[in-house]
Amino acid sequence: MKLPDFFEEDRLAVDAALERLLPAEETPPTSIHAAMRYSVFAGGKRIRPILCLEAARIFSEDVTPALHPASGIECIHTYSLIHDDLPALDNDDLRRGKPTCHKQFGEATAILAGDALLTLAFELVGGTPVDAERRVAMLMEVATAAGTVNGMVGGQMADIEAEGKRIGAKMLEYIHRSKTAALIRASVTAGAICAGAASKDVARLRKFGETIGWAFQVTDDILDVEESSAALGKTAGKDVAQQKATYPALYGLPRSHEIATELANKAIAALEPYADRASRLREIAEFLVLRRT
Ligand code: IPE
Ligand code: IPE
Ligand code: MG
Ligand code: MG
Ligand code: MG
Repeated sequence: MKLPDFFEEDRLAVDAALERLLPAEETPPTSIHAAMRYSVFAGGKRIRPILCLEAARIFSEDVTPALHPASGIECIHTYSLIHDDLPALDNDDLRRGKPTCHKQFGEATAILAGDALLTLAFELVGGTPVDAERRVAMLMEVATAAGTVNGMVGGQMADIEAEGKRIGAKMLEYIHRSKTAALIRASVTAGAICAGAASKDVARLRKFGETIGWAFQVTDDILDVEESSAALGKTAGKDVAQQKATYPALYGLPRSHEIATELANKAIAALEPYADRASRLREIAEFLVLRRT
């Protein structure tokens, strides 16, 4: 599908910021910086940073400061992928079309590269050139989203523990909203906070972010069944092989497609007060459930 031009413009801006903000490969210890850069620049879609920049744009013409939280959140996302792929978790060999970090650099370096990206993220968000109140608010959004209580690590724990078990709709919803939607929500709210949004606007965007984030993981589950490893740049069909708790496993594919669309529509409805100012966020939301990669 043809993406609107702003996707590419935002992606280039984020890649340039990450290039500037990540330690150079020559900085010792060079092996960890090589591993961090390898995974960050392996070719992700940059959905979270794009959401962060476009949420900021609703409230400010200058979104340059939002490149900090956008880059920090992409670092956390990349760390989550490096650790998700480790032999003790999903045990994957392919990520973003390349060998996974532990395949390329060994497990010890991959674990440390993940730790380092998580830590660097807080340095980047904390160093955003806006006032201290906004910086603290963004740090809280990002920290809670990455954590254990309804956050990414909590969701990953529940995902691992659900393998091979028959879980119900409530638990499946908890896993998806925690492991994936929380960080996508934080991408949107951090962008809005960075640009000076009022608290009622942050609350509306929180609703948008968590609902589109949930739809995003339903779509990830669908693509694992419907697409090839070549198209995804990661191993397809592994959720069934590993008996993961997924929407297709619980609801079947046709109903999973409907759920993803319903969630995207619900997310888009939260943007109603912004009319044309939110047209880019609407386009992203539509892409996220129609994407094939
Ligand atoms: C994959 O996320 C992991 C999930 C949380 C579903 P993305 O599909 O955004 O992965 P990249 O960043 O494009 O590689
Ligand atoms: C991972 O979910 C979500 C993360 C927090 C990394 P998956 O295990 O389904 O992600 P992929 O399919 O490996 O990208
Ligand atoms: Mg996983
Ligand atoms: Mg995985
Ligand atoms: Mg998946």
